[in-house]
Amino acid sequence: MLEVEDLAVSYGGTTALAGVAISVKEREAVCVVGPNGAGKSTLLAAIAGGVPPKRGRIRFDGKELVGMRAENIARLGISLVPEGRHVFGTLTVEENLFIGTYATSDRRYAQSDAEQLLGYFPRLKERWRQPAGRLSGGEQQMLVIARALMTRPRLVMVDEPSLGLAPKIVDTIYATLLALRAERGLTLLVNEQSSDRMLKFSERIYVLRNGRILLHGNTADLQDGEAITRAYFGFDEHHAPATSEAAA
Ligand SMILES: Nc1ncnc2c1ncn2[C@@H]1O[C@H](COP(=O)(O)OP(=O)(O)O)[C@@H](O)[C@H]1O
Ligand SMILES: [Mg+2]
Repeated sequence: MLEVEDLAVSYGGTTALAGVAISVKEREAVCVVGPNGAGKSTLLAAIAGGVPPKRGRIRFDGKELVGMRAENIARLGISLVPEGRHVFGTLTVEENLFIGTYATSDRRYAQSDAEQLLGYFPRLKERWRQPAGRLSGGEQQMLVIARALMTRPRLVMVDEPSLGLAPKIVDTIYATLLALRAERGLTLLVNEQSSDRMLKFSERIYVLRNGRILLHGNTADLQDGEAITRAYFGFDEHHAPATSEAAA
């Protein structure tokens, strides 16, 4: 479904991605794991059309996304939930959920979509008329995921949903994502800093570090976590611990 090849992205003089390749099959749950600054957010932003690649190809259903405008990429069925849980704090949960749909002509679809989605996010239903700024972090994360689903995407990309949340809430969020996948045939691409939970959640894992994929494989083959840990901390880069940052 999604094929990223030789993707390179720079911000001025900073190289964020250097020759990244990933692929995601329809209905797969794939995780990109890596430390802060690895390039995870940049990868999702590039796929969504938010940052222009310097080099490389991004194909979705065989269609080239590089050079396409973000809104046209969204229209193909790709939705990004950015890191940071950006809700409109003074608007209600309801208003936040519908905010992306006011421009589209058919509100009736949006109404029934929202009602179905609330079945997956009962906490949001309880808080329906409250300002989103008063929700807990976990509830805000659920709100931004639900909002991303309002456009009926086929591929949902979620950037570090667990950041700063209690483990129990994070488990609920991941269980909800998997339920949505099972019942709606969604495809999931998720960024996380820690791989622990991802060993249960995903079918495949990529380890990203310093803008490069250092390891990828089937989650089933990586269950002991050791190969992931080695790649994560850069031990496999030059057959020795990465010391470039320390030396610089
Ligand atoms: N808007 C930006 N301007 C300049 N540098 C950036 C910007 N966004 C990210 N970077 C840099 O690009 C690299 C990758 O960042 P990012 O994709 O946010 O990584 P991650 O999401 O894995 O933490 C880092 O070195 C970061 O400092
Ligand atoms: Mg990030």
